[in-house]
Amino acid sequence: MKAYRAALLRFADDRSALFEEDGLLVVGPNHLGQQTVQAVGPYRTLAAQYPGVPVEHLPGRILAPGFVDMHIHYPQTDIIGSPADGLLPWLENYTFPAEKRFSAPDHAAEVAAFFIAELLRNGVTTALAFATSHPASVHALFAEAQKNSLRLITGKVLQDQNSPDGVRDDTEQSLIDTEALIQRWHGVDRLGYAITPRFVPTSSAAQLRGAGVLAARYPDVWLQSHVAENLGEIAWVRSLYPDARSYLAVYEAFGLLRPRAVYAHCIHFDDTDRALMRDTGTVAAVSPTSNLFLGSGFFDYAGADRAGFGYGLASDVGGGTSFSPFHTMRAAYYVGREGQTKPGLSLGPQNLWWQHTAGAAAALGLGGVVGNLAVGCEADFIVLNPQATLLLARKTAQVQSLDELLFALIILGDDRVVERTVISCKN
Ligand code: GUN
Ligand code: ZN
Repeated sequence: MKAYRAALLRFADDRSALFEEDGLLVVGPNHLGQQTVQAVGPYRTLAAQYPGVPVEHLPGRILAPGFVDMHIHYPQTDIIGSPADGLLPWLENYTFPAEKRFSAPDHAAEVAAFFIAELLRNGVTTALAFATSHPASVHALFAEAQKNSLRLITGKVLQDQNSPDGVRDDTEQSLIDTEALIQRWHGVDRLGYAITPRFVPTSSAAQLRGAGVLAARYPDVWLQSHVAENLGEIAWVRSLYPDARSYLAVYEAFGLLRPRAVYAHCIHFDDTDRALMRDTGTVAAVSPTSNLFLGSGFFDYAGADRAGFGYGLASDVGGGTSFSPFHTMRAAYYVGREGQTKPGLSLGPQNLWWQHTAGAAAALGLGGVVGNLAVGCEADFIVLNPQATLLLARKTAQVQSLDELLFALIILGDDRVVERTVISCKN
């Protein structure tokens, strides 16, 4: 066992943040030998219960749960910030050419190593990631995540139409490959598989149907895709499925809405779509830096809460502009302000932070497993330095409340605030 003494940030079931000025986090093996949180609370009451356990004292630091990124594309690491008029030209001019290169295992391994290191440097300890259509890209990312004991979920992209040579796959082979990858990697160490149709326009009906069959056969495997991101994309889907009630309804028809199904964006929804998300247990990966960068629109938080479907935050690199959860939370704040239809719905800092930790974990079906510093959770945490920059030091010295402290970090913070990322099962 090992204990850490510092300020502690964690979350209550009602989504509010709990802050302990002088806290103790005790980490040790559970009955399965996994490194989990054994105790968490005030130092003055807990310390005496763990005599002999070595305590690392981190004065002036905050321990917080590792961040959970619900949607990110590792093969797009090198195309962050590539200019385009919108989603479809961006896919054609930057994304597909970059993704073609992942048929080469060496290239995939090199990018995977950089990507995982960048996640950890930014304090992200759980991620649901797209690979490319090449099985080699999936093997490379899983192998690198396994090496770093990262909790990572990924899958081979399915795209058998409307895609250029080099990324387009074969319908039948793509489904065989998906099932083989599930059997090879799902549930191995901290890894999970996600069935990954890219989006409706790039998959044939046969491929979507096949993905739905696999989604039913493997209910604890995740499923990830994109929906209702961009108006041009939506018009394209309407031309492909003119009789469908909506874009989301196409996925429903193929059996692709269910618990553990995670859809990026979910911007251009109506209330029937929102109710369908709720009723099927499908969740949204809200990707604000991507939506602002590609000019896609604003996620409607009030609409999501009115319907009651799950969601959490995501970087969506490389449509998204940063690996840093601080940048993502900041952009979500702007979206919450600007995308609102009524005044008074701004997202508070506790809610923003929850969306990128415990909220995202719950949306992934991993509540109580990751995303919080609660007894029984896997002990992935970050050590934050609220004085990481001159301006942050000046600002955080003056804060009067938890909201002010968290806001200062969200608005002024970035990777410099994350002093250390601890994956306890690795140490
Ligand atoms: N829709 C289909 N593919 C993609 C992608 O790679 N990124 C984003 N943002 N949207 C998509
Ligand atoms: Zn995406």
